[in-house]
Amino acid sequence: MKKILAIESSCDETACAIIDEELNILSSVVTSQIDVHARFGGVIPEIASRMHVEQISIIVKEALNKAELTMDDIDYIAYTIGPGLIGSLHIGGIAAKTLAFFYNKPLIGVHHLKGHIFINELLKPLQYPMMSLVVSGGHTELVYIEDDDHFKIIGTTLDDAIGESYDKVARVIGLEYPGGPKIDKLAKEGKKYYELPTPKVDGLNFSFSGLKNATLQLVKKLERNGEKVNTADLAYAFQEVALKSLINKTKKALEEYPCKMFVIAGGVAANSRLRQLVEEEIKGVETILPPLKYCTDNATMIGVAAFHYLKHQKFVPLNAESKANMSIED
Ligand code: KG4
Ligand code: ZN
Repeated sequence: MKKILAIESSCDETACAIIDEELNILSSVVTSQIDVHARFGGVIPEIASRMHVEQISIIVKEALNKAELTMDDIDYIAYTIGPGLIGSLHIGGIAAKTLAFFYNKPLIGVHHLKGHIFINELLKPLQYPMMSLVVSGGHTELVYIEDDDHFKIIGTTLDDAIGESYDKVARVIGLEYPGGPKIDKLAKEGKKYYELPTPKVDGLNFSFSGLKNATLQLVKKLERNGEKVNTADLAYAFQEVALKSLINKTKKALEEYPCKMFVIAGGVAANSRLRQLVEEEIKGVETILPPLKYCTDNATMIGVAAFHYLKHQKFVPLNAESKANMSIED
């Protein structure tokens, strides 16, 4: 049975996984740098690259050991080619290319967001056309997927990504990076009290910077007036407006582009309130909510996606360039 060794290093997780063609996960190892970056309030690209350098060969060896395999048992090498932090992408890319060159294996360069989408296949067979709401630290996109090789962005953020605005708002109210999970938790203790403006954007696009700024202005105003900010109520208010905008646009997208399946993907797909809203409000289409361990960055998702690249014989040469910005349509 064919096996892929996959590497992910686009941001602050160094990960390696080995998957076979029936999508059995033979091993999956992830190390996170979150504790280090938390001290600085966000990911510091230079530190991220250096930590990937320190971790990458340890992680690859560990993945092989856990699967009880050697490089001779591996048929293909896959890695995240973009989008992400360029220095971080380079480290995974260099590791993958070195292995591919030395052991003479074909190389597959995977789009990070396709990894987030295709990992849903571990739960159910995917059906096309499929709609995906991709919500992460760097992206907020509605993607219409005609088949496993045709992706069309039908809505995107005009400014900040949803995860980025969660992290920014969290920082202002004194929560550590990454702020998304902490706002998620805090909002559960909050109630409807503060009013924040609903983003007004035509069509299927999103905007979060106005909401983020309004939240930050409200905190400043309360502080100026000597009033204590109720952070749980603020988290609640921010989250309700942000997530309802995601849900409303998703409903509109599914009306305009009827689909057989709907999947959420990316780090913010771990949000408990978003998951609840999807269950309550997205009707008439089969929906997949990935389990939390599949939402955040890992290499299993890169391996699963790589089998689709393999199906279409999409390989990259040893001099392929990693790309910080890369559309899912490419
Ligand atoms: O996909 P991901 O792991 O990395 C990127 O590719 O960007 O997403 C990370 C983002 C961060 O902004 C983080 O705050 C957010 O996902 N996130 C959440 C939750 N868990 C992670 N946002 C809201 N609620 C959560 N439970
Ligand atoms: Zn990601």
